[in-house]
Amino acid sequence: MKGVVKYLKKYTFLIILAITFVVIQAILNLYLPDLMGDIVNKGVSRGNVDYILSVGWKMLFVTLLNVAAAIVSTYFAAKVAMGFGKDLRSHVYKKVMNFSLNEVDKYGVATLINRNTNDITQIQNVIFMMLRMVALAPVMAIGGTIMAISKSPKLTMVLLVSLPIMFVVMYFIVKYSMPLFKSMQKKLDNLNRVLRENLTGVRVIRAFAKTEYEKKRFEVANEDLTSTALKVNRIFALVFPLILLIMNFTIIFLIWIGAIQIDKGTLEVGTMMAVMQYIMQIMFSFIMISVVFIFLPRASASAERVAQVLNEKERIKDVKSPKKLEGMGKVEFKNVTFYYEGGKEPAIENANFEINPGEVVGIIGSSGSGKSTLVKLLMRFYDVTSGEILIDGVNIKELSQKDLRDMISFTPSRPVIFSGTIEENVRIGKEDATEEEIVEALKTAQAWEFVSKLPEGIKTQVSQGGTNLSGGQKQRLAIARGIVGKRKIYIFDDSFSALDFKTDAKLRKELREKLKDATKIIVSLRVATVMNADKIIVLDKGRVVGIGTHKKLMKSCEVYREIVSSQLSEEEIA
Ligand SMILES: Nc1ncnc2c1ncn2[C@@H]1O[C@H](COP(=O)(O)OP(=O)(O)OP(=O)(O)O)[C@@H](O)[C@H]1O
Ligand SMILES: [Mg+2]
Repeated sequence: MKGVVKYLKKYTFLIILAITFVVIQAILNLYLPDLMGDIVNKGVSRGNVDYILSVGWKMLFVTLLNVAAAIVSTYFAAKVAMGFGKDLRSHVYKKVMNFSLNEVDKYGVATLINRNTNDITQIQNVIFMMLRMVALAPVMAIGGTIMAISKSPKLTMVLLVSLPIMFVVMYFIVKYSMPLFKSMQKKLDNLNRVLRENLTGVRVIRAFAKTEYEKKRFEVANEDLTSTALKVNRIFALVFPLILLIMNFTIIFLIWIGAIQIDKGTLEVGTMMAVMQYIMQIMFSFIMISVVFIFLPRASASAERVAQVLNEKERIKDVKSPKKLEGMGKVEFKNVTFYYEGGKEPAIENANFEINPGEVVGIIGSSGSGKSTLVKLLMRFYDVTSGEILIDGVNIKELSQKDLRDMISFTPSRPVIFSGTIEENVRIGKEDATEEEIVEALKTAQAWEFVSKLPEGIKTQVSQGGTNLSGGQKQRLAIARGIVGKRKIYIFDDSFSALDFKTDAKLRKELREKLKDATKIIVSLRVATVMNADKIIVLDKGRVVGIGTHKKLMKSCEVYREIVSSQLSEEEIA
């Protein structure tokens, strides 16, 4: 809990208020049996109706006060717990938003979502419970004992028998349910992960007729969670009757001892009734404390999971005084080597090359050769393991991430489409883009031909993930987003793969004209897409095996020749 408790600090005043009212509630609770004892002793047994009435009114008043105190304290406790949950969620969200891809890879999306929702709810619930019970239970237990002893020390001795029994029972409950509760969070993660994969991959699952298999996978995860939850419930199903049994035996025991004393004339009926109520209150307090003990470990497991995210060291951080760039955006890779976390082979090995401002650069290589990794390094989604990447002679680590990414437009290989209108999706690339600029970008991206045919044009809603668009349409929308703002460097990571050759060629021609002064880095598996570039970088198993124009590489680069001959016919090559 430590890692998250500090976020409670700003609620100190409200916490004090909540606890104060809880204490008032507890004291009023303790007063009621006393009054009741009086009514029986002095009113009922002596037939004094006036006394019964006056103390009766008093009891009613105390009860009303008690209810009021309970409402007020619950209100403050809820305010603290909910406010705390809200704060924590936004802290976690902000933190995750600043994660580099390293950290996102490390956790996985399912658990990050869980930690920011379910885990925080667990903590929030326990804080609410603690604010109510942590003050209520001790005051009632201690106060109840004092009151009971002051009324009849002999009767109070009953506690010496029933409390130890209660302790033993509670000890076993806490002991057995704690680990179960703790493991439930992990199982929930697993369930969410399977669910997420299945929902996002639903088309693939259908296409490969894997529905049955995936159903099983979900059922296994679901079963696992359910069986743990059932175990917990079985414990509780056993426990509550047991507790009731202990309490009822205590009462019987108490009445038995009390009756003997009343018979001897050493005890009054009202006093016995009051002590009985105190003893119930004391035992209830212990149950409340045990309940806290049961829920606390689950919440503290959740708190640990949340704190882990909050305390995650950001591996990619801005330097204290970032440098500003004035130049045109010359890119240099110097001896760059990069390993993914846990990777045995380098994804990029000793890469050396330069990209001059305004150049069109193609990056080609077989699947898995490191093309995407190379451009992700330039975006500083990951930091290089060794070597350096310079822009205008400045190491990109010395720039602010914002400046770096404001300078480069990156269109990833898999287009990401958000729910909203087409216009909103493009506008992500430039917040203050005018409608003309958006249409212009759509035209350059060859997207206008289908957007203009849509019933509401750029105001047409696209669903989350762009499921109501074709693959090529999504790509062109993503390209429009990439080019709507003015940048020094544009990167297209395999962004033309879903386009037919004609559209691909037309798009590249327009990009050349519209983004004349900017550097354009085009990653592709297709020779036709990169062969007209000013410079082509050929990658093979993470290594740069050739740099140059198509002509030059045809002569000097074996890997390039192989790629070309596998894709183009003889006359196209010539
Ligand atoms: N997040 C990651 N964690 C670990 N390894 C990764 C990660 N992403 C890629 N790799 C590995 O790095 C290597 C290069 O991957 P990369 O995505 O750069 O290839 P690529 O050339 O872009 O391939 P493609 O043409 O299929 O997109 C691959 O061997 C891949 O398995
Ligand atoms: Mg790739």
